[in-house]
Amino acid sequence: MASKRSSWQRTHTCGELTARHEGTEVVLNGWIENHRHHGQILFLDLRDRYGVTQVFCDQEVAGTVSGTFETLRRLGAEDVLSVRGTVRRREGDKINKNRSTGEIELVALQVTVLSEAETPPFEILDKAEANEELRMQYRYLDLRRRPLQEAMQKRARFVTAIRNYLQDNRFIDIETPILTKSTPEGARDYLVPSRVHPGKFFALPQSPQIFKQLCMVGGLDRYYQIARCFRDEDLRADRQPEFTQIDLEMSFVEEHDVLDMVEGMVIHGLREGFGIELPQPFPRFDFFEAMEKYGCDKPDLRFGMTLIDVTELAKKSDFKVFATAVATGGTVRGICAEGAAEKFSRKGIDELTAFVTGLGAKGLAWAKVTANGVEGSIAKFYEGDKGKELIAAMGGKPGDLLLFVADQKKIVLKALGDLRLKVGGILGLRDPKVFRCCWVLNFPMFEYNEDKGRWQFAHNPFSAPVDWDIQDFGKDTDQIRSRAYDFVMNGWELGSGSIRIHRTELQARVFEFLGIGKEQQRANFGFLLDAYKYGGPPHGGIALGVDRIVTLALGREGIRDVIAFPKTAMAYDLMAEAPGSVSAEQMAELQIVSTAKPQP
Ligand code: AMO
Ligand code: AMP
Repeated sequence: MASKRSSWQRTHTCGELTARHEGTEVVLNGWIENHRHHGQILFLDLRDRYGVTQVFCDQEVAGTVSGTFETLRRLGAEDVLSVRGTVRRREGDKINKNRSTGEIELVALQVTVLSEAETPPFEILDKAEANEELRMQYRYLDLRRRPLQEAMQKRARFVTAIRNYLQDNRFIDIETPILTKSTPEGARDYLVPSRVHPGKFFALPQSPQIFKQLCMVGGLDRYYQIARCFRDEDLRADRQPEFTQIDLEMSFVEEHDVLDMVEGMVIHGLREGFGIELPQPFPRFDFFEAMEKYGCDKPDLRFGMTLIDVTELAKKSDFKVFATAVATGGTVRGICAEGAAEKFSRKGIDELTAFVTGLGAKGLAWAKVTANGVEGSIAKFYEGDKGKELIAAMGGKPGDLLLFVADQKKIVLKALGDLRLKVGGILGLRDPKVFRCCWVLNFPMFEYNEDKGRWQFAHNPFSAPVDWDIQDFGKDTDQIRSRAYDFVMNGWELGSGSIRIHRTELQARVFEFLGIGKEQQRANFGFLLDAYKYGGPPHGGIALGVDRIVTLALGREGIRDVIAFPKTAMAYDLMAEAPGSVSAEQMAELQIVSTAKPQP
């Protein structure tokens, strides 16, 4: 069937007309972004996804609307129009260089109102002025703003590039169930009551973890999914109750196979999606190495300023703070902020001191490097050669600022790790347009939960220990390492994964150690333990957070800015007003009674 365009339908988009189209008659469809009256002349800016075109209306066109120029005057922001007109070239200073269509304007011959808009609750501006709650309530209006349009388009381009890459590398796109059983990713589940099985509940997946592993047992070899995950956890700027992962799993692999594959994927995705070229290769740090150098397990590699251990020098120091810390089993470490001596006044240093004491440190020792030695809070203990020794150990040169914390190692690493980021920020070293990736490997297998008084898994209970033959997880538990790895960009954890356990016996022992008894193992993971009995291939994989990657790549503030219909920090959809109540009939059918007090 030959397609036929109705007379009101567009021949072009609002972003494509240039001087090349001069004299052509065209039809545009779009929303009124702006209208300016100059006596008997009206200028309209017509907007669609592709751009904005200026429309020129005079007395001539009035008749085509409904009789008078006054009708044209009544047109308002966000009305939806069809405009038939002739492309006219703009001359001299009338050219708008900030717009792709700035060389031309459309001289209207006929204006048709397709839809009238009420005055919107907020103005559709590139830089949002309305508060976020109002914008979330009217998300469909917020989506008209260019930053959100850009986010949606680039996000889609990125995901398409990822799909293509994985498809080219023999991964199969496989859908796993949304109505399923609890998967242990450490958050609370969202539950769905079953009508057919009264009193029973499905859990929405926190991730497709178990199913992707079963795909490997199922011989599918390489799995991927752009997977929606659901987690009922406390929300922050980088978390949503439902979010999207690039989830993948590979059979017969070691760490480097997964890391190499994902590195290629991320490079391809960021290039195609956002035009970002990532420097290669991504450095790979052992977990403890990252902690020692950066004081955290997600290093921001956009700048150096690594932590330096000066415990040996501090041992023989007359500075009591240092000597005491070492004598009581502690450590003294510092960072060297290049050229920062003049950038921090006494007040500035006091603020840094307050910052680290807020993190549990007892204080902040500091010294400014000069041509002759050091100046500052510790200078009197570091005169002459001692000062030179300290400067050399810190790699300092005149003009640098040295900052030290003495304490137990855990506190020192936390305080200096965070201080490094803070100082880096103040010195402008964390440029949001610079991107640096890395891997952190061999995380501890377990971490101690002080509140619960027991060990729990650090990544997930399916990660294999580095030492496959390990017999006793109760011995030196904090030293046991897993084959888990994190993908990090600019100090953000963007992905996590591991080489998995693929034998029933070892998996059962890990569950046991985590306090998951035989019965609970059967109830929750029986099918996984059974599956391995029938030949589980060695396998491993990873999941990357799409929302976080896009947020970072576009330099946005939080992941809500790159999700079409996000929820609030209270896990609420202000637009759809979800979650909401259900009818008494629905509750009865599910055989559910709520004990919640009705909310106003
Ligand atoms: P993990 O729980 O570390 O691993 O999640 C992987 C990545 O998903 C993203 N992410 C989130 N993004 C937005 N909002 C959230 N609430 C949220 N939670 C996680 C992060 C994170 O790095 N099944 C394992 C992966 C595996 O082992 O293969 C898993 O889900 O970017
Ligand atoms: P004080 O001797 O407590 O007056 O501290 C002298 C200097 O050492 C001040 O700049 C303190 O902030 C700093 N300081 C105190 N305790 C520590 C510590 N544990 N680590 C690093 N600096 C410290």
